[in-house]
Amino acid sequence: MSIEIQHTAKSKIDSVDFEKLGFGTIMSDYMFECDYKDGKWEKPVIKPYAPITMDPAARVLHYGQAVFEGMKAYKDDNGDLFLFRPEENWQRINNSSERLAMPAFPKEYFIDGLKELVKLETEWVKPGFGNALYLRPFVFATQPALSATPSTEYKFMVICSPVKSYFSGELKVAIQDKYSRSAAGGVGYAKAAGNYAAQFYPQKLAQAKGFQQIVFTDAASHTYIEEGGAMNVMFRIGNKIVTPQTSERILPGITRKSLIQLMEDNGFDIEVRDVKVSEIVEAAKKGELKEFFCCGTAAVISPVSGFAYKDEEFTLPKVDDSYALKLKEMLLNIQYNKSEDKYGWRVKI
Ligand code: PLP
Ligand code: COI
Repeated sequence: MSIEIQHTAKSKIDSVDFEKLGFGTIMSDYMFECDYKDGKWEKPVIKPYAPITMDPAARVLHYGQAVFEGMKAYKDDNGDLFLFRPEENWQRINNSSERLAMPAFPKEYFIDGLKELVKLETEWVKPGFGNALYLRPFVFATQPALSATPSTEYKFMVICSPVKSYFSGELKVAIQDKYSRSAAGGVGYAKAAGNYAAQFYPQKLAQAKGFQQIVFTDAASHTYIEEGGAMNVMFRIGNKIVTPQTSERILPGITRKSLIQLMEDNGFDIEVRDVKVSEIVEAAKKGELKEFFCCGTAAVISPVSGFAYKDEEFTLPKVDDSYALKLKEMLLNIQYNKSEDKYGWRVKI
């Protein structure tokens, strides 16, 4: 596949302080762009990062027809660059697109496009655990038309942002018993832009009370734990890890899937099943809830220090033998080429 590359006259990397990165506030030098028209994807192009112009009637602005992915490029100590399970993200963006009546994006364009883009941004990827170039593929409806029907024109893009971990400091979460992220038959399993917009309001309410994230429960009864607004969740009760099984309402996280595999292969006691809020609350009350952590590409693995449910607040104990930290090390060792990768998850660029 040939990708047209338009080079930038000058990199802006010298103006960036890599020690002071917020999450996703600084974009790198290039972006990948590919348009869909007349039933097919046109020739992709990598060009200098710049604003795009859009018709005010573009359907995405009215009906939110948009999906996205979140990935990272990693650099090892030799300067080699890697992606982590990129085919999973390709599959998931197409699952998301299908649910929003959008066209699938070809695998070759997705994988080769990411590789070519990251190659151009080598200097933007810093080595060392926690440092990465966050990659944001996304697709949105560009056709100017106001009837509430699917667009016939789309734009697929990838932008890149140098990042450290998503959370800094303590992570406290509020388990929801009112607002929902998704419902049966909805778009919860898709990485649809609107899923995120819909949670900003309850998230704002939770933040005002000192909780950075919400953990959503099932919309029908609010009795089962589902996931965080931007990450999956896992609990350690005694020495057993429990995590909700995915469903049409939960985003199937690639970090989650990888951790489950690592746990199964390394002798962890792990149960993937429905998890009742009451079980977590009871375990916390009895002192049996030893760990609660979130996992996702942006969050990596973030231990939760405390949580609220209804009017009660719980604090997680400090543990010496943290499973979250053990798992994080195993995962990062694979991502940063510090250990053998028997799964073939690491993809060299
Ligand atoms: N759940 C939601 C709602 C997310 O936005 C994310 C982040 O991508 C995840 C879970 C974790 O998914 P992954 O591990 O593939 O990044
Ligand atoms: C990711 O982990 O890649 C995500 O998409 C989370 C994002 C909403 C910040």
